[in-house]
Formats: sequence, structure tokens, C-alpha cells
Amino acid sequence: MINLHFKYHKLIDQLKIEIPFQPDLAIILGSGLGDFVNKINVLKSIPTSTLKNYPPSTIQGHEGKIHFAEYSNKKLLIFQGRIHFYEGYNISECILPSYIAYKLNCKKIILTNAAGGINPLLKPGDLMLIESVNGISIKKELTDLIGISSIEGKNNILNFPSESLNDVIKQAALNEKINLKEGVYWYTKGPSYETPAEIKMIKKFGGDAVGMSTVHEAIFAAYLGLETSSISCITNFAAGISGNKLNHEEVTETANKVKDKFERLIKKIISFI
Ligand code: HPA
Repeated sequence: MINLHFKYHKLIDQLKIEIPFQPDLAIILGSGLGDFVNKINVLKSIPTSTLKNYPPSTIQGHEGKIHFAEYSNKKLLIFQGRIHFYEGYNISECILPSYIAYKLNCKKIILTNAAGGINPLLKPGDLMLIESVNGISIKKELTDLIGISSIEGKNNILNFPSESLNDVIKQAALNEKINLKEGVYWYTKGPSYETPAEIKMIKKFGGDAVGMSTVHEAIFAAYLGLETSSISCITNFAAGISGNKLNHEEVTETANKVKDKFERLIKKIISFI
């Protein structure tokens, strides 16, 4: 925490000047889901490249912008693009969006991502509310199978996922008649997709969907006391689940197809918050 302050206080000061309000909700938009910002009233967009010490985005489909926006009378802090461990950054860099949301006094955050479906009930194009992840036990303590944790050495009870925010998300889906699935998101480091054998293992361990992000950000946001929830867009069958080879184009293509449903859900959630 001290280190984060040392490294990022100028960036935070810069943002506080550019954003003269307290956001009601922060949202991280995952792979292919960035288009959402075009459907709401954006008050200000800040390229992360203009922010001191903000790690540059290196992946296609991740814009690297922070937006301040309004929808349904709510103030929004939106991260278009995220920082992945597999890009070569360290965990204290990956959790920067959660830290920024906290420092701007935001109390709620929704993390979205693209994920591969493992459970046969999950098909490309489905949206899945995350009910559990590897790395946080059902007693909400840290566990080992995340590899490296963003709050190493601390044994706090982590309120992730936030039950109250998950309830809002479920209600929003019901209202929009969206068949929102629920399941366990399994983090893998990437950047390569998993092997079919790895997917078999993750399935045995209880994972319903697999992806390369979110959990470190979620752990850190929950640690900082933000109400934290997460939604996966199932963009493909995980390796070995169907005969197809995986590629990033399929991920962005499916995310593109699903974007109307995703936008309706997020808009309804915002109006319910
Ligand atoms: N595996 C890991 N990450 C992913 C996948 C996948 O199949 N799809 C989208 N992100």
C-alpha cells in the first residue's frame, strides 16, 4: 500500500483534478466489451498513456482509456482495457484500476472479462455471474490455487463476490429477461490458452469457466472494502471442449455479437444501483 502510494500518488492527483466527482460505480471492461462506452454519456476520456506510471496496454481490443461518464443519473468510472499479469506486469500494476477506484472514493466495482466455457451448460455468447473463483475460499479467505496473490501475506476476510451487488445484477438480468448463468471462474496466468488436459483438471477442480484476469483485481478491490462483483462473457468453448482451435479473434468476435445483451445488462445494473 505504501509502495502504491509512492508510485501512483501523482497519477491519482492528476485524476482527481480531471475528475471532479465521486463515481457511484467503477466498471472494468474486458476483452471485446469496450464498446459499451459508446452507448453512454461520456464526460471525459483520459488516455492512460497520459497518466504518470500507468502501464501501457499491449493487447488488441484493450484501448487503454479511463472514462468518466453518466448514465441514469449515476456517475461512472470506466476502464476500457485492463492490465494483465501475462503482459509482463507485476501484480501491484495489475490491480491499479481497483486502487484508482478506491482512491477516487468509489464504493462499488464490477469487473467484466472474456472467458472460455468449461461447464457444458455454458455456450459462447452466454453471460455468467461469478459466484466463486480460485484464490478465495467460500469462507472468503485467500487460498493457494491462485498462485500469486495481490495482498500476499495478509489474511483478511474478503467480501468477494459481494452478495448484495450480485443480487442487484441478478435482478437486473431478470428485468431484462437475460438468462444470466452463474458459475466458478478459474484464473490461469496465460498468455497462452490452456491445453485440453489442463481444462480437464480445472473442470475436476470445479471451474465452470476459465480466463486470464479479474481475480487479482477482485481480491484487491474487496480488500480495500469496495463492493466487488464480476461478470464473464463466455466467448468460446475452452480447449478440448469442442473440436475448434482457440484464437483471440474468436474471443473478440463473440464478445462483439453479445455486446447488445451485455450493454442492456450493464445499463440496467447501473439504473438499479
Ligand atoms: N481461456 C483463457 N482465457 C480466455 C479464454 C479461454 O478459453 N477465452 C477468453 N479468455
